[in-house]
Amino acid sequence: MGVDLTLNGAAATLSSPPDSPLLWALRDERRLVGVKFGCGAGLCGACTVIIDGRQARSCQTQVKDVAGKTVVTIEGLSGDIAQAVTDGWIAAQAPQCGYCQPGFVMAATAVIAADPKQTREQALSQLTNICRCGTYDAIRAAIDHALGALNAAPSPQKQGSAQ
Ligand code: FES
Ligand code: FES
Repeated sequence: MGVDLTLNGAAATLSSPPDSPLLWALRDERRLVGVKFGCGAGLCGACTVIIDGRQARSCQTQVKDVAGKTVVTIEGLSGDIAQAVTDGWIAAQAPQCGYCQPGFVMAATAVIAADPKQTREQALSQLTNICRCGTYDAIRAAIDHALGALNAAPSPQKQGSAQ
């Protein structure tokens, strides 16, 4: 028995109680401790994961809710969008204590993946995560960097066939 899903690109089964929060199944059962506990009430976003391509608060998601779904945590993040977002985070030196940052990165990746051509303001309007260190200016810069990289015109060297 258990809840079958795809977790960070691989088939997995969660054996935690079906009505328990996904947050604790990921942290305690799977040791995916990049998923952080903040408020436990759906407010802060520290626990954000991506479920079927959308940002989701894992503290407000029950294990049974992810049956048959695709769940990605910060440990399984990959691909061009995720790379652009994490590059942006590094370029902006966004974290201070860092506790909220995995949740921000997950939320930003899901939002930007849904529409890489959106404006910074459009992306930010969909980010409701909270940072107690107040890194919002750096996060804005990180989003700018990510969107800029994704929408940059190809350089002449990169056009044409590979050399
Ligand atoms: S811990 Fe889930 S939103 Fe705060
Ligand atoms: S960097 Fe400390 S809570 Fe956001």
